[in-house]
Amino acid sequence: MTTPPVCDYEGSDYQTSFWDQGGREYEDRTEAIALKRLLPKSGNLMLELGAGAGRNTARYKNFKKVVLLDYSTTQLQQAQARLGQSNRYIYVAADVYRLPFVDDLFDGATMIRTLHHMAEAPKALQQVRNVLGPGSSFILEYASKLHLKSIIRYLFHKQDWSPFSLEPVEFVKLNFDFHPITVKKWMHDIGFQIERTLTVSHFRLGLLKRIVPTSILVGLDSIFQWTGSLWQLTPSVFVKATLGGERNGSIPDEIIQWFKCPACETAALVSKGDHLHCPSCDSDWAVNSGIYDFRKPSNK
Ligand SMILES: C[S@@+](CC[C@H](N)C(=O)[O-])C[C@H]1O[C@@H](n2cnc3c(N)ncnc32)[C@H](O)[C@@H]1O
Repeated sequence: MTTPPVCDYEGSDYQTSFWDQGGREYEDRTEAIALKRLLPKSGNLMLELGAGAGRNTARYKNFKKVVLLDYSTTQLQQAQARLGQSNRYIYVAADVYRLPFVDDLFDGATMIRTLHHMAEAPKALQQVRNVLGPGSSFILEYASKLHLKSIIRYLFHKQDWSPFSLEPVEFVKLNFDFHPITVKKWMHDIGFQIERTLTVSHFRLGLLKRIVPTSILVGLDSIFQWTGSLWQLTPSVFVKATLGGERNGSIPDEIIQWFKCPACETAALVSKGDHLHCPSCDSDWAVNSGIYDFRKPSNK
């Protein structure tokens, strides 16, 4: 099966350069507020897609267990260093387009700052839908093309793409901004019901961030986030979507029961110490230092 290209973060210092030393306290705090407002009060098993270095993971404290999924093992290693190895956190290296989980496994999922790397976003969203059970919640953050800065730039001919057209724009290779109407339609077509929409980062402007104290900008953003249900004109939009039906109250006891082979989709993998084996297609999937690696079979 061929899958779309992956934006590769292997070896990247993204967490340090973008977040820790990149002057992004305002964005981090406003995202934390949005997540708090949207996360369910309780849950069993959360899937964090594109978890990166685990910046948000501790915020999912209402869930009993969290699976951190990322294509980059070095991002997952950074997450392990932050969160530790325990049976609360499960680290999985895999491609969002080929999730290695059985259907209906999770009762919660988040995808923050990750959809913007998806050249075929509906395909990725369909994968998320498959692994979520009835009654689940999915919190999706996406980068919007329809924000005030891009509108002004377009009107003054400083930008050649229109923020009003519905198709995604790839402004840098494998970096996409989406139109809110398009994302809404994708979610709806896949079977998600959108419960709430919050707009985030209303004041993401270098000058404002330099002259206004962060706490004031965060407080104002927190008030304005509610306007997301009326209109979306910010660079970042958070959506809480749900699936109809009754939530399943339990998680399969053995982690191996959670997985399916991403190559042939067979569910009955067998544990062989340092790898999982698929008896159906003979693929081996490595398990290294607590990271299940489902990107490429280790024996092929
Ligand atoms: C911008 S970072 C965001 C990390 C984290 N969610 C945060 O907000 O701090 C995007 C993450 O998505 C991961 N990613 C990109 N494409 C992916 C794919 N196809 N499958 C799995 N992870 C992917 C990258 O490795 C990276 O860690």
